Amino acid sequence: MTEKRQSIHGQWSSRWIFILAATGSAVGLGNVWKFPYITGENGGGAFVLVYLICIALVGLPIMVAEILIGRRGRQSPLNTMHALAQEAGRSPHWRWVGAMGIASGFLILSFYTVIAGWAVAYIFRAGSGAFQGATADEIDALFDGLLASPWALLGWHTLFMIMTVGVVARGVKSGLEQTVRIMMPALFLLLVLVVGFAMSTGAFERGVEFMFAPDFSKLTAESILIAMGHAFFTLSLGMGAIMIYGSYLPQNASIAGASITIALADTAVALLAGLAIFPIVFANGLQPGSGPGLVFQTLPLAFGQMPGGVVFGTLFFILLTFAAWSSSISIVEPVVAWLVETRGMTRSRACLVSGGVSWLLGIGTILSFNVWAEWKLAGKTFFDWMDYLTANIMLPLGGLFIALFAGWVMKRFDVQDELGLGESVWFKVWYAVTRYVTPVLVLVVFLHAVGIV
Ligand code: PHE
Repeated sequence: MTEKRQSIHGQWSSRWIFILAATGSAVGLGNVWKFPYITGENGGGAFVLVYLICIALVGLPIMVAEILIGRRGRQSPLNTMHALAQEAGRSPHWRWVGAMGIASGFLILSFYTVIAGWAVAYIFRAGSGAFQGATADEIDALFDGLLASPWALLGWHTLFMIMTVGVVARGVKSGLEQTVRIMMPALFLLLVLVVGFAMSTGAFERGVEFMFAPDFSKLTAESILIAMGHAFFTLSLGMGAIMIYGSYLPQNASIAGASITIALADTAVALLAGLAIFPIVFANGLQPGSGPGLVFQTLPLAFGQMPGGVVFGTLFFILLTFAAWSSSISIVEPVVAWLVETRGMTRSRACLVSGGVSWLLGIGTILSFNVWAEWKLAGKTFFDWMDYLTANIMLPLGGLFIALFAGWVMKRFDVQDELGLGESVWFKVWYAVTRYVTPVLVLVVFLHAVGIV
């Protein structure tokens, strides 16, 4: 057996802290902002079902693979894949999978901080009582007003970018992990509260039916790809975020148990967000397919009508901001680790460089909501392209190669040693799924989306 490596970047204080940090990475805008609106755009129930299948058969096995690869290599994803491939006597070109992850990191961060900026802006709107007694039209107008102002969006984007790299520059260990410990359960509780309100709207059943009664006639090849892409996005997979977190995981911690916990928590938050939002959509005659503004057009309505809505609304957007924050730091971490390892930069400088590049790219996303709104390529704006390219193409492709790497490139013995499950049924099931089922599923969905299968 080879010597176990040490990461030069540090290590989590415990397995529990790793679970918190990885859950913090997974639970973010993807759950509360993206999942409800893409569910709305893709017809509801059948989409949710495909998404859940993807979490179980694609997301979970790849999460285990990413963590074990990360912990084995203990470097940035690019250098980890390079080192492990060589150790197994395979081509060093596997590092290109890590390189694609770095590229995805830049691209995702660029739009993630723009949307997270909306959440920050909404803290102040909720706090000032702007939603109290407002009609659906008035709430819409407020949201449209924000999107119409490139300068306001730029300000929030800049603020959130500084918040993100500010934490990463200090190292993750002492900053965010303490906050996440309190914030995640609180977000969960507030979501339950809004679901409670949604139950009183009289349209709860319609909301539930929309989410859980599958109507397969609404399922297209494109929506299956979107559901799979979202499984990657929401679990932070396919670009090295979970891999780098895994590289800071203490040696004796169970990888499989942690993965299941993280995936369950992530899924629970997404489903709760849907259950909070769709009843409000139907009770107010709104459109479920109205796009990226959905959360910002529905929840404020609820806060505007419930007793104590100013407090709960403000708290909610604070927590959403924290959820996005604990995700955004994990998007830059692989990039920063790589810059530190390969370019010899200090952590602060690496943060400045990666944050700066993403900040600039983010301006494209900002403009696509106003000045460039009519500029479309194949029906998609700049933001649509960023989102589509990363979530639906780069992350699944990255995930596919990661599954192949753990299943076929690494030696079975090494994989087994890292997982610590011995020759148990669990190991055999995971290994078979990762080798055969996951790669085939990802490939079939891809080929189906381009019209080949
Ligand atoms: N999982 C995060 C979310 O759902 C987004 C994310 C994607 C984080 C990729 C890290 C890497 O909001």
